Amino acid sequence: MVPARRSPPTNQRLPRPRPPGRVSDPLAEVSDAELLAFSNGRQEFLRRETPEGGLGPIFNHVSCAACHFQGGLGGAGPINVTRFGRNTAAGFDPLASLGGSLLQVMSIVPAAREFIPREANVQARRQTTALFGLGLIEAIPDEALLALAAVEKPDGVRGKAHLVTDIVSGELRVGRFGWKSQQATVLAFSADAYVNEMGVTNRFFPEENAPNGRADLLAQHDRVADPEDTADPVTGLADIDHSANFMRFLAPPAPLPSTAGTEAGKALFTTVGCALCHVPELTTGPNASAALANKTVALYSDLLLHDMGRLGDGIVQGQASGRDMRTAPLWGIRFSAPYLHDGRAPNLQAAIMGHDGEGSVARDRFAKLSAADRAALLQFVQSL
Ligand code: HEC
Ligand code: HEC
Repeated sequence: MVPARRSPPTNQRLPRPRPPGRVSDPLAEVSDAELLAFSNGRQEFLRRETPEGGLGPIFNHVSCAACHFQGGLGGAGPINVTRFGRNTAAGFDPLASLGGSLLQVMSIVPAAREFIPREANVQARRQTTALFGLGLIEAIPDEALLALAAVEKPDGVRGKAHLVTDIVSGELRVGRFGWKSQQATVLAFSADAYVNEMGVTNRFFPEENAPNGRADLLAQHDRVADPEDTADPVTGLADIDHSANFMRFLAPPAPLPSTAGTEAGKALFTTVGCALCHVPELTTGPNASAALANKTVALYSDLLLHDMGRLGDGIVQGQASGRDMRTAPLWGIRFSAPYLHDGRAPNLQAAIMGHDGEGSVARDRFAKLSAADRAALLQFVQSL
């Protein structure tokens, strides 16, 4: 066993000020302490893990930045992860004892590599999502999302809040992060990503994933004592905290300037019914950070789960059924092609035409628009 891990980021100087509004910048109103936390977090987010430092035995990549980079650091990415499971007469089985539902495609030694077990009869690919503006999304009160879910909507649109137990607080919260709104807080997702994408155990997830569930392979190849990510005695922060700070203070991309085209598209976005789910604005509640308190969040999502019919990914996760998906936020969408959870849509038009279930009425209305109106609507979405 190798006891100690490596040193945490030690930057004590404030980063130089940059012109406002660029992708991957911090929120404009962060305090000096928050800016420092952001910049230290940024370094950790970029850092490549090594087997000696706790990477693996099984993992999907070596750093957060290796997957989240499109448009800028913390962006979406073309790398997909794979989930698998088994549909049975009794319901969905995530095949946890065989290493499910998340597949880890890499390993520190070939002998430990995971594969999709024969028992699996469902497989889904999920694209890397963008992390811009996550602190603002985190600061939206649960009550606001519960209220949105309770509103009666036309067009057969419903929407349900995904109640999850937040591993950080132990409380039942409204989930909002991930394709299925499967996590409620930035720190919980950070801790989850460290263990599941990089094999780095931490205070919330102290146990390694065994390759396809095999304890013998784990015992043979897991050489670093768990938890691998521990708090620095001086700062009190572990790597999961540093990366959470980076994501929490990461600004959303600024929308493009409006034009006659985007203004026309904006009106159509509502009349066609897109805004029923892609709610243009939500508001944050009170917050310890002035940069996050009482802010308008132009995310174009209700963060709720919708039954998307054939667009569902077939994976049951928490209260989300195989057909339930979170309304994808549309801010910064111009940086994250291809679209939809598995990247099946090469462009925005294809993404809209891929909507099904609760999204079918809006999809059909979009399809019946004149070519000029469709172009205006797409121009608007592209500008967010
Ligand atoms: C192998 C590629 C990969 C790596 C490495 C990776 N991620 Fe991700 N990330 C993804 C994918 C794919 C999703 C969407 C997952 C889902 O919803 O099932 C995601 C989603 C997220 C989300 C949710 C954002 C949202 O849309 O609400 C957060 C937060 C996140 N990642 C943080 C991290 C952090 C922190 C690290 C480093 C510890 C990391 N990720 C490493 C692929 C990756
Ligand atoms: C019933 C709710 C609902 C309605 C109505 C709706 N959407 Fe969506 N939208 C979703 C969900 C859920 C997703 C994520 C689906 C997935 O990939 O599994 C999504 C995804 C998208 C994406 C892809 C996002 C990405 O990151 O890949 C775009 C673009 C989009 N919607 C635009 C629109 C437009 C434009 C309209 C109106 C024509 C519309 N949507 C109507 C729920 C809805």
